[in-house]
Amino acid sequence: MNDRLNTFLSLADAVIITDQEHHILAVNETYARITGYSIDTIVGKKAGILRTAYTPRETYKKMHEAIRAGSPWSGVFTNQKQNKDLWHSSITITPFNMDEQTYFVGVFRELEELDRGFYLNEERIRGIQGSLLKVLAISCEIRDPGIESHLLRVQKLTELLAARHNERLQLGLQPQALSLIAHSSILHDIGKSSIPEGILYKPGPLADYERKIIEMHTLIGVDIVDKIYAELDDDLFESELSTAKSIIQHHHERWDGSGYPHQLQGQHIPLEARIVSVVDVYDALTTKRPYKEKWSAELAVNYLLEQRNKQFDAEIVDSFITLYNEGATALND
Ligand SMILES: [Fe+2]
Ligand SMILES: [Fe+2]
Repeated sequence: MNDRLNTFLSLADAVIITDQEHHILAVNETYARITGYSIDTIVGKKAGILRTAYTPRETYKKMHEAIRAGSPWSGVFTNQKQNKDLWHSSITITPFNMDEQTYFVGVFRELEELDRGFYLNEERIRGIQGSLLKVLAISCEIRDPGIESHLLRVQKLTELLAARHNERLQLGLQPQALSLIAHSSILHDIGKSSIPEGILYKPGPLADYERKIIEMHTLIGVDIVDKIYAELDDDLFESELSTAKSIIQHHHERWDGSGYPHQLQGQHIPLEARIVSVVDVYDALTTKRPYKEKWSAELAVNYLLEQRNKQFDAEIVDSFITLYNEGATALND
């Protein structure tokens, strides 16, 4: 191997050199000491033998794309030592072209704080949080066969509407805040899991007391989330659950103050709840329910327009309409 490449091996950090096919051509002493593989055993193997599922596939994909294009790449790998212990490191891989060959030089820096456990990047944490909330929402309402697709549509439409509203009104919400709203929206009716089926799915009009019981789902939902939060004893879900609580509690408030449970008015209703309220009603109207037929999208949109400044925040309805006009609200289920 080229001398210039060999000089990398004298670095104090762990260093690995591979060919284009990721066969290991050389590693240094530090690399051997950390991984537990002797230099002789590891040379000739594929670099992938250290891989673990803790490194997201997306990370490998980005790495491959970058180095194939000839650019250096840095990221975080959770690899496996010979004894199966995890090895968390940030790595910089630099491609070198020499003697008509391409070599990849990887320099590892150990993440010292992470002797134990594993490193998850933000995106992956959000993905896991989202899946758990989805399972939670669906299992709470499993009695209702149509509910899963309703919840998923509400989530998708909330994601679109929150992004559009943010952009249209220049609200300055960060992507993380937007995805929080979308992820949490799926929990809006979690409290219905405690409402008797006879009332929940009753075809035809409800008696006053039945309506009161159904309205309880907003408060019961908050109670469920509080219980989960008390059990969790972990901050990982803190922002998810507080956004979820605000949506659960307030998605039936109305802009004019005639909603429930607290008769909040206008901007006093949290933004995330105002957004979900529009989406939830739109989806409910355009779906067949035991007590009503399916409305056309056009009729449902007319209803939203009619309810500007009454049931709904007019600006949010207008943002929804821009999506509708682009055909973005027609989701296939
Ligand atoms: Fe609800
Ligand atoms: Fe709903």
